[in-house]
Order: sequence, then structure tokens, then C-alpha cells
Amino acid sequence: MKKITVIGAGNVGATCANVIAHKDLAREVVLLDIKEGVAEGKALDIWQTSSINNYNTRVTGVTNDYLKTKGSGVIVITSGIPRKPGMSRDDLIKTNASIVKEVTEKAVKYSPDAIIIVVSNPLDVMTYAAYQAANKSSNKVFGMAGTLDTGRYKAFLANALDVSPKDIHALLMGGHGDTMVPLPRYTSVNGIPIAELLGKGELDKIVERTKFGGGELVNLMGTSAWYAPGAAAAQLVEAIVDDQKRIFPVCACLKGEYGLKNIYLGVPVKVGSEGIEEIIELNLNKDEMKMLQESAASVKKVMKVLDDMKLF
Ligand code: NAI
Ligand code: 2OP
Repeated sequence: MKKITVIGAGNVGATCANVIAHKDLAREVVLLDIKEGVAEGKALDIWQTSSINNYNTRVTGVTNDYLKTKGSGVIVITSGIPRKPGMSRDDLIKTNASIVKEVTEKAVKYSPDAIIIVVSNPLDVMTYAAYQAANKSSNKVFGMAGTLDTGRYKAFLANALDVSPKDIHALLMGGHGDTMVPLPRYTSVNGIPIAELLGKGELDKIVERTKFGGGELVNLMGTSAWYAPGAAAAQLVEAIVDDQKRIFPVCACLKGEYGLKNIYLGVPVKVGSEGIEEIIELNLNKDEMKMLQESAASVKKVMKVLDDMKLF
């Protein structure tokens, strides 16, 4: 790919650009921020690792100059404020909705064919905002949360079982919030069902820790996480660039799947060069479906706050 743009050169955006460069996913990665000099400085710092880490991807930083993003194949949106201890992701909507709208409109103007991956919180509703601002097919606008949340779930399981995280396969659905739905029935260690390896009590504790995994880090650091979020977003970029057809949970626009419509919510999808190439419908049992519906109801409440802002 010729160019990938990451908007927001803060903790998550800079980490994402760094991973994209290390994986050599494009000729150039452009990092854009509104704060004078920040993107330029971080891009220069990342680029100076190219000879050390053996990659070619040029890393460019710009202050609010969208012309430099022209012709991007993928745009990752990380701009906006992160939460502080005591805040929920939903508290961020008033500030972040206007930012996401503005940056999406500007970026799409110069890269009309780009696939857009949203990271800004509250994730599900910011993805819905970007979809409205981008005015393009919903398979080309989706949100990153499920790959991060399953990354956390897998890391906790790898520790509990003392096995390689590479061997853990897992799915998680729903909104990127405390109502997310980790799915132990769809979790295995190289095909061995997790229930055969871990007792219910321990598994329940890991599921709960996963749901509050973002908050755990906010409490430790005073701001939200960036290494895993940045890498998780870059993993989706890689699936697009290399047309990998990988199955990931992403925040996708539902049009009747799981009995839900007019909502962006985390579901398993196939990701390739066209963006979301298929939404996969699992045979959820009654309890799983109930949790998914509760999660959807909580996302809908925040969507209403966005609708009431009348930005679109
Ligand atoms: P940060 O504060 O380190 O970086 C945000 C950057 O956005 C800042 O550099 C800021 O100057 C920039 N920005 C603000 N308005 C802008 C505009 N109009 N145009 C261009 N740049 C602008 O925050 P961090 O930690 O990087 O988090 C970014 C967002 O990602 C937050 O909303 C956070 O809640 C969210 N997040 C989402 C995750 C997910 O799983 N979806 C995981 C982690 C964070
Ligand atoms: C996270 O899960 C806060 O969404 C951010 O780390």
C-alpha cells in the first residue's frame, strides 16, 4: 500500500504508527495531529528507528495538513481525549464526537477510497459518527475494540494456564464497555475447549477482569492504555493491506444480524482488502444472546446522546 494515515499522534496513534512502520505495511505512514509539532516530532523519532529495526516505511508527521494524507488506503482515527480515573468511556462523547466528525470529513475529502478504522472512545458510537461523516459504505468504516479486548482476555488466560498466548483462540462480542460479552464457549487452547482446562470460578474471574480491563489500566496509569490498543489497530490495518481474510471481532454496522439493526456493535467479521468482507453470525445460546442485547441497549443509549447533539 502507498500510504496509511493515523490521525491523532497521542499515545495510541503514535504507537499504532510505530507498529505499522515496524511491520513495513506501506510505503509511507502519515501521523497527523492538531498540536503544533507533536506529530512531526514523534514521526521523526519513529523514523530514526528504521535502520535499527530494519524497515522501509517512511514515517511523516504533520500538523493538521490533510493534503499530506492524500491518497491514503487506510485511515486510523485516534484523535480525541482519553478518560481519567472515575470517568467512563461514555463521558468522552461531548468532546470526541465533534473531533471525530471533523477529522473524518477532512480525511475523506483527500482519500475518498480509504478504509476507516476508528479507535476514539466511546468506540461504538464514535464509529457510528465516523460512518455518518464519511458517507461511504459501512463495510469500509469500522471500529477497533474487539481485537484489544480479546488480546486482554488471551493474556489473562495465558497467565492462568501458563501456556503461550499464541495458542489461545477466543471471541468476544458487544460494545466496548463494561457490557462487553467475552465468550468462553468460543474459547480454546489450540482446539481444546477452555472449560476442559480451567475451572468455572477461575474462568468467571478472567471474564470479569477482561470486561474491566481498560479501567484497570486507567486506575494504574491515570490515563488509558496505548501499547495494546495501538498494536490492535495496526493488526486490523495489516489484515487489510495483506488481504488476509482474518476473522476478528470488530465494531461493525449491523443490518439485521443477531436481530439488531441501525447500530454499530462488536461482532466477528472477516477482514480483507475490502474492509469488512463478511459479518459472521454465531449460534449464540439464550444467555449469550441476552448479554449481547443488553450490551446493544447500552450502546443505543449513548447513540441517542450523539443523535441529540444534532451534529449530522
Ligand atoms: P492522547 O490524548 O494521548 O492523544 C489524542 C491526540 O488526539 C492528542 O495528541 C490530541 O492533540 C489529538 N487531537 C485532538 N483533537 C484533534 C483534532 N481535531 N485533530 C487531530 N488531532 C487531534 O489519547 P490516547 O491515549 O492516544 O487515546 C486516544 C483515543 O483513543 C481516546 O478517545 C481513547 O479513549 C481512545 N482509546 C480507545 C481504545 C479502543 O479500544 N477503542 C483503546 C485506547 C484508547
Ligand atoms: C481501553 O479499553 C480506555 O478504551 C480504552 O483501554
